[in-house]
Amino acid sequence: MRTQRTQVAIVGAGPSGLLLGQLLHRAGVHTIILERQTGDYVLGRIRAGVLEQVSVDLLDEAGVGARMHKEGLVHCGFELMFEGRRQRVDLHGLTGGKTVMVYGQTELTRDLMEARAAAGLFTVYDAQDVRIYDFDTEKPRVCYRKDGVEHEIACDFIAGCDGFHGVCRSSVPRAAITEFEKVYPFGWLGLLSDTPPVCDELIYINSERGFALCSQRSRTRSRYYLQVPLTDRVEEWTDEAFWDELSRRLDDEGRDKLVTGRSLEKSIAPLRSFVIEPLRFGRMFLAGDAGHIVPPTGAKGLNLAATDVKYLSMAFVEYYVDKSQAGIDAYSARCLRRIWRAERFSWWFTALMHRFSEDGPIVGKFQAAELDYLMHSQAGLRSIAENYVGLPLDFGEHHERQRSAHPSEFCGHAGSVEGEHSRAAAAIAARFN
Ligand code: FAD
Ligand code: DHB
Repeated sequence: MRTQRTQVAIVGAGPSGLLLGQLLHRAGVHTIILERQTGDYVLGRIRAGVLEQVSVDLLDEAGVGARMHKEGLVHCGFELMFEGRRQRVDLHGLTGGKTVMVYGQTELTRDLMEARAAAGLFTVYDAQDVRIYDFDTEKPRVCYRKDGVEHEIACDFIAGCDGFHGVCRSSVPRAAITEFEKVYPFGWLGLLSDTPPVCDELIYINSERGFALCSQRSRTRSRYYLQVPLTDRVEEWTDEAFWDELSRRLDDEGRDKLVTGRSLEKSIAPLRSFVIEPLRFGRMFLAGDAGHIVPPTGAKGLNLAATDVKYLSMAFVEYYVDKSQAGIDAYSARCLRRIWRAERFSWWFTALMHRFSEDGPIVGKFQAAELDYLMHSQAGLRSIAENYVGLPLDFGEHHERQRSAHPSEFCGHAGSVEGEHSRAAAAIAARFN
C-alpha cells in the first residue's frame, strides 16, 4: 500500500473535477484527481455545448479561457419553432446585453486537462476501485488501485465530482440523503457531423413528430438531437434515417438549408430531473452531476456543475486562508437554491417542447396556447431569456439580503439549513459509530 497526502482529494476528472482542481491550484490549495477512465475516453464523450456567461467567466478565472474566446461562438439569441413557425428569442435585447457561448464540453475539458498537465498537477487516470472512507471524521481517506498496486490518499476533504454513476454519492448512508427524481418517457438521440449548421443560431423545435434541436460546435460542425422513445436503440438509427427524421421536424427553410453528412458520433441519452439534498456529508462534498441531473433542454447541466465548483472552491479557500468554516457550512444550501432554479426551468422547457403521447392531444393544445402566449408577450420572452442566459453567481447572496429584510422568514430559512446538516450528520454518525 502506497500512501500519499493532499488537501483536497477530487474524485472524477470531468468538467467539475478538473475545474475545481484548476481553481484550487490558482489559490494555492493542493489537490489530487482520481479518474476511473482514461483521458481519451473522457474526451470521447460528446455532451454539452452551451456556456452561460457565468461559466465563461469561471473558465477565465481558472486561466483556461483563451481558446474558448478564440474558437467559441457568442450567440445573442436562439429560435423557437412551433407549428412550423419560428420566433427568435433575442437574449441580448431581452436581458440587457447578456449572451451565451457555444463551445463544446469536449474542448473545455481538453483545455482544463492541458492546463493541469502544464502545471505539473497530479491526476491519476485509469484509477480502479476508488473507495472513500472516514468522511465523517477529521481524517478522510480515499483508496484506489492502479496497475495492480493499492494506494491510499490521506486528505482534509473529498470532492465528489464523479457524475451520476459515481462512488461518492453511493457511499453515503441512504438515510442521510433525500432524493428527488423524475424520469421522462423519452430520450434524446444526438448526432455530431462535420457539416455546416442549418442556422447561425440554435433552433429548439416542437413538432408533431416530437422535439428536435439544431445545435452546433463551430461553423463547420453541427450537433443535432431528436426526441426518441426510450425503447429505441442507437444501432437501429442509420445516418439516413436520422437526417430524414430531422428534416421532417424542420420547416421549409430548414429543409432547404440542411446539409447532411456522415455522423462522427451518435448516442441516446435518457432524460431525468434529479436532485439530492444535502450536498455535504461531513468532509465530503458533491458537485455537478454527482448531486443533480437536469434534462438537457435549456443546456443547464454543465453550467450548474461550473457554479457548484466555484462555490466549493471559495469554501475551501476560505477554510485554508481565512481559517473560516462559513463557506463550507453554507455550501449545500447555496448550491441548492441555484440548482432548483435551473431544475425548474429545465423541467418546464422540457414539458413545453416535447410530445407526451401518453397524455393525449390535449397536452399539445396546452403547449400551443402557452407558446402562442410566450411568443406574443415581452414578459414571456424575457422570462425564457433570463433563465436561458442564467443567474449571476451572487444570486444566493442577493436573495439572502432580500430575505434578511424579513426577519421572521429569514429565521425559518436559516433553521432549515442547520436542520439539514444535523440530520445528515446524525444519520452518518448512526451508520459509522
Ligand atoms: P461528468 O462529466 O459525468 O464527470 C464525472 C467523471 O467522474 C467522469 O469522467 C467519470 O468517468 C468519473 N467517475 C465516475 N465514477 C468514478 C469512480 N468511481 N472513480 C473515479 N472516477 C469516476 N448538459 C448540457 O448542458 N447539454 C447537453 O447536451 C448535455 N448532454 C449530455 C449527454 C449525456 C449522455 C450526459 C450523461 C450528460 C449530458 N449533459 C448535457 C450534462 C453535462 O454533460 C453534465 O452536466 C456534465 O458533464 C457534468 O460534469 P461532471 O464533471 O459533474 O460529471
Ligand atoms: C446542446 C445541448 C442542449 O441540451 C442544449 O439545450 C443546447 C445545445 C448541445 O449539445 O449543443
